[in-house]
Amino acid sequence: MSNLPEDRPEPVELDGVAPSEVSAEHAAVDLSVDPALDPALGPAVDRAAETPVLEVRGLTAGYGAVTVVRDVDVRLTAGKVLAVLGPNGAGKTTLLSTMAGLLPRIGGEVLVEGKALPNARPGAANRSGLVLVSDDRALFTRLTIRENLQVAHRPGGLDVDGAMDMFPALKKRLKVAAGAVSGGEQQMLAVARALVQRPKVLLIDEMSMGLAPVIVEELLPVVRRIADETGAVIVLVEQHVHLALEVADEALVIVHGDVRLATAAGELAAHPELLQTAYLGGEAVSA
Ligand SMILES: Nc1ncnc2c1ncn2[C@@H]1O[C@H](COP(=O)(O)OP(=O)(O)OP(=O)(O)O)[C@@H](O)[C@H]1O
Ligand SMILES: [Mg+2]
Repeated sequence: MSNLPEDRPEPVELDGVAPSEVSAEHAAVDLSVDPALDPALGPAVDRAAETPVLEVRGLTAGYGAVTVVRDVDVRLTAGKVLAVLGPNGAGKTTLLSTMAGLLPRIGGEVLVEGKALPNARPGAANRSGLVLVSDDRALFTRLTIRENLQVAHRPGGLDVDGAMDMFPALKKRLKVAAGAVSGGEQQMLAVARALVQRPKVLLIDEMSMGLAPVIVEELLPVVRRIADETGAVIVLVEQHVHLALEVADEALVIVHGDVRLATAAGELAAHPELLQTAYLGGEAVSA
């Protein structure tokens, strides 16, 4: 299983738990907060407070006639972080690209604050508040860090100072060309550039790609802080499973394009055998 994440748990005895039981038990988990269980909201919760910021219903995506990821459901209220996990080629990037409108949907819907996004219209998705931080970062490498932020800025988004508050390490690099800073700093800039666009939904694809683990350990808590302080919903595709589960509220495990598990992040962190079972699917466990 060379495509398991490097920091995966040691293989565990699966205790005869069939994958179908695991997914059946967890697939129905509602990713939103139940207002009735949140005393802070009180009994007179208005309908708007219940509307999820991001809702994905039965999303099926792929390339032309080839379906790559099937029937994905997500429901996240403000400030929630969802970790999307899965081996290489599972369909995670395809899912995020399709949500962002860069690829046409084969089926299903994506709604931001209850409003359905038109299919395959990245500009419309972006204007609705859905911002993708792609795994290639796509920075203007010849522009300075400050210029990259200024070019992307939208009314109501964090200004350069606000973005620097999230990423203080970038502050003394503002005048440096984006192409000349370290990989970690480029990744910070990629996320900061999303923040100045005032995202309601932030889709982050493998922010840790090519970065040293020590940098990843610094970056992921910022994701939590962004969700807590701006109320943005964050969908985080991440290979550093344990670090991702530490900052996420919910987790979705996709294998070969199928959702194998949808559960609370804490549940998955506490029971790594669930991840192991989901990754292995219906295959026999070999010694
Ligand atoms: N442009 C494309 N055209 C056709 N098939 C593609 C294209 N891009 C990706 N695929 C296929 O879609 C499947 C899912 O790929 P995707 O990149 O979404 O997976 P992933 O989960 O993001 O993987 P990784 O962890 O390696 O980033 C793979 O089988 C891949 O070969
Ligand atoms: Mg990918």
